[in-house]
Amino acid sequence: MKIIRSWLFVPGDNERKQEKVRGNEADALILDLEDSVSDDRQDIAREMTAAFLKANPDRSRQELWVRINPLDNPLSLPDLAAVMAGAPDGIVLPKVYSAAEVNTLARYLEILEVREGLEPGSTHILCVATETAASLLTFNTYLDNVSGRLVALTWGGEDLAAALGASDNRHPVTGDYDDPFLLARSLSLATSRAIDVQPVGSVFVDFRDLEGLERECLRDRRSGFIGKIAIHPAQCEVINRAFTPTDEEVAHARKVIDIFEQNPGLGTVGLDGKMLDMPHLKQARNVMALYEQISG
Ligand code: COA
Ligand code: MG
Repeated sequence: MKIIRSWLFVPGDNERKQEKVRGNEADALILDLEDSVSDDRQDIAREMTAAFLKANPDRSRQELWVRINPLDNPLSLPDLAAVMAGAPDGIVLPKVYSAAEVNTLARYLEILEVREGLEPGSTHILCVATETAASLLTFNTYLDNVSGRLVALTWGGEDLAAALGASDNRHPVTGDYDDPFLLARSLSLATSRAIDVQPVGSVFVDFRDLEGLERECLRDRRSGFIGKIAIHPAQCEVINRAFTPTDEEVAHARKVIDIFEQNPGLGTVGLDGKMLDMPHLKQARNVMALYEQISG
């Protein structure tokens, strides 16, 4: 799957917002049928989202995903049944308890793809893995036989705060996440890497603070995340930039790869006064792979 750096949420019942951001710099839009849509607008959101998908079949510049309601909510199946006619690139699954629901969703998609005449397996899944208390205790379930449709995993600190009874998820002075949320972040990163799906950084809710967003993106990237969820169009440019390797990073990665290629049989070499060994070579290859995928 191609790397998606910025995933922008757009309320599913807001035509103006949908039109405004179609084709902007977000790598993917997530048309939302869940928390940004009020109860009395569920039907209209579903219809509008299906119509938007059908009107925009060319996804080469920007993928179109849909966040459905959680599977334990009776709204979720009508959501899926309505939007699959528009062939979304993927489904965002919120408020999971374990990987079992990812696999249940995968089965539903299998059936709906047949109904719609879509290529089997073409609809991917991004799972919001940490929005219930139980979800923090079930990450191991992803390690055996999760559906190959799952291509990305992210975490959320907002619903998790409510689920844990926390009044806030960040320290009032430093602004850093408190420990249950750092645990959620770490577990979702480790799980993503263990099963080889894209680890996506969580929403940064203070959408006017672009400097804070940039700091958090760079921190996410240092940790190993690729890309981030956005809630406002202004966040996408910052996210794309932060997750694109810089010219210096690419040049350095090339240098590291070259020096190992020029010294076959050596496990450790020196470059600019620093020791390099296998983890550095692996990291350099990761940077080059990310760069090549992003630059197409
Ligand atoms: N998608 C598309 N367009 C958006 C947008 C989004 N997520 N957020 C803002 N815009 C548009 C606005 O409509 C506005 O355009 P307009 O003046 O032509 O109508 C422009 O961008 C500037 O918006 P701004 O005034 O800065 O923000 P706002 O107060 O209108 O909206 C939010 C703030 C948070 C309500 C809005 O960003 C939003 O709806 N975000 C997504 C929420 C969501 O889906 N949450 C669920 C996941 S957690
Ligand atoms: Mg939510």
